[in-house]
Amino acid sequence: MVMRKGVPAVFIALLAIAALACGKKGVPYDDQPSTSLRIEIVSGNNQVGPAGFLSDSLKVRVKTSTGQPVPDITITYAQITPVDSGHFPTPTWNIRKTDDQGIAYSLYYVDTQVGVDTIRAVASGLDDSIVYFVLQVTPEAAKKFVKVSPLTTLTTVAGQPMPVPYIVRVTDKYGNPVAGHRVRYVVQDSSVVVTDSTLAAGFESDTAYTRTDASGLASATWIFSVDYPGYYFSSDLRAYDSLGDLVSFFGAGTDPGTLTYYGAARPIFAAHCFSCHPSAYSDYSLDFYYQVKANGNMIPGDTTSPLLSDILPAHELTHLNFVEQNTIIRWVVTDNAAPGMSGLNNYHDNMKPIFDAHCISCHGDASPSGSYSMTTFDGIRGDGSDAVPNAIPGDAGCRLSLKMASATADNMRLYFGADSVALADSVTRWIVVDSLRDY
Ligand code: HEC
Ligand code: HEC
Repeated sequence: MVMRKGVPAVFIALLAIAALACGKKGVPYDDQPSTSLRIEIVSGNNQVGPAGFLSDSLKVRVKTSTGQPVPDITITYAQITPVDSGHFPTPTWNIRKTDDQGIAYSLYYVDTQVGVDTIRAVASGLDDSIVYFVLQVTPEAAKKFVKVSPLTTLTTVAGQPMPVPYIVRVTDKYGNPVAGHRVRYVVQDSSVVVTDSTLAAGFESDTAYTRTDASGLASATWIFSVDYPGYYFSSDLRAYDSLGDLVSFFGAGTDPGTLTYYGAARPIFAAHCFSCHPSAYSDYSLDFYYQVKANGNMIPGDTTSPLLSDILPAHELTHLNFVEQNTIIRWVVTDNAAPGMSGLNNYHDNMKPIFDAHCISCHGDASPSGSYSMTTFDGIRGDGSDAVPNAIPGDAGCRLSLKMASATADNMRLYFGADSVALADSVTRWIVVDSLRDY
């Protein structure tokens, strides 16, 4: 798109005022007021129209200071910004003469690029009196629909958004951007397309609507499904403008490998389920791997896991799209609900070795001290000597955390030995910051 530099209308208007004032330059104000003539705009200033439009009359009047019209004055019109980008109806229409009413006019075809055209009218012999007309050029009707990017076939891991958005542009016949034009994206098979207004459009996954922005651009995100029989697979994404014009993109998805709770499933639960199933929800939470399994709701490898029916809209109108649903199904059924790594400190990799080395000699499975067995994750979360869990996610006041607090006899921190401060700190962070992350 060629956007030229527009001169702000306000600035032009100021110029015009300044020019009127300057037009009297050299004219003695008080001595001979009766002989001073002046040019003024009658009509045609501040017109707004689409690229290439023919202006209404750019009409000026020349009169004496007492208001008498002055005929036969030559008026010369010229475009001054941007230079010569439009044109007069005929080449000679730039030079006009005032009539008996002191009036002269011309017409002008504005530029075909959006911006501001400024036309100057100069009255000869009147101390170079000048006026300026400002014509604002807006885009013509939508005409062209083109692919902007990507221009090549991209490939990415199925389940992940394609690395770049799919961008199209709507312009008028001169290439000026057309804003607010509706664009519809449609995917063919085994993928979804998402735009900023996807939710407003309902739950359709194969179609998404949006509108062009001020630059005439619209964009969408394209995601391939994870459950395709045989990778790599390619498909196409089509974009239509509201005139029915079409552009097509091609792309491909590759096998995502083993999907994990932390890598693939949890982000989907966080987006769609945590609002009603928060960490502290007593019946069922999805914030931890072990919680997803609670109450028999998720059995790795089992297609009849209750969880798999609760990802459908029938459950509280949750609206996972088709790629998200397939991600959960593949994770549970094909990938046996692999836990994956949280990236934070987790029980399995970071905490278990510490407890095994320093605590299970007294807190083993057979008659553990304080009735508190520390050999498994479930044991760590157990109640010990009372009915309250010793480890509570995020709770710095839980018993396990308090037992880490200082190296007194009653506390257990001393059993960490030489590294007691650092190791106790690790355990406390795992409870409070990492919320008892299990993998
Ligand atoms: C608008 C609130 C809401 C949303 C969102 C929601 N749920 Fe639920 N869910 C509930 C309520 C309320 C119950 C308990 C009543 C019932 O079983 O329907 C429940 C129960 C469940 C149960 C059975 C729990 C049990 O052991 O009794 C599962 C499994 C479940 N939801 C999974 C999900 C998943 C997965 C998501 C996200 C895809 C989700 N829910 C999103 C409100 C919600
Ligand atoms: C030498 C034996 C011994 C070792 C080693 C030991 N503990 Fe203990 N622990 C005890 C005894 C005895 C109790 C019960 C008395 C008490 O609560 O102080 C106990 C109680 C606890 C309790 C409270 C249990 C309850 O519910 O009342 C926690 C928590 C605890 N220990 C954590 C740890 C941690 C963490 C470690 C490893 C750093 C550890 N312990 C190492 C002997 C030990």
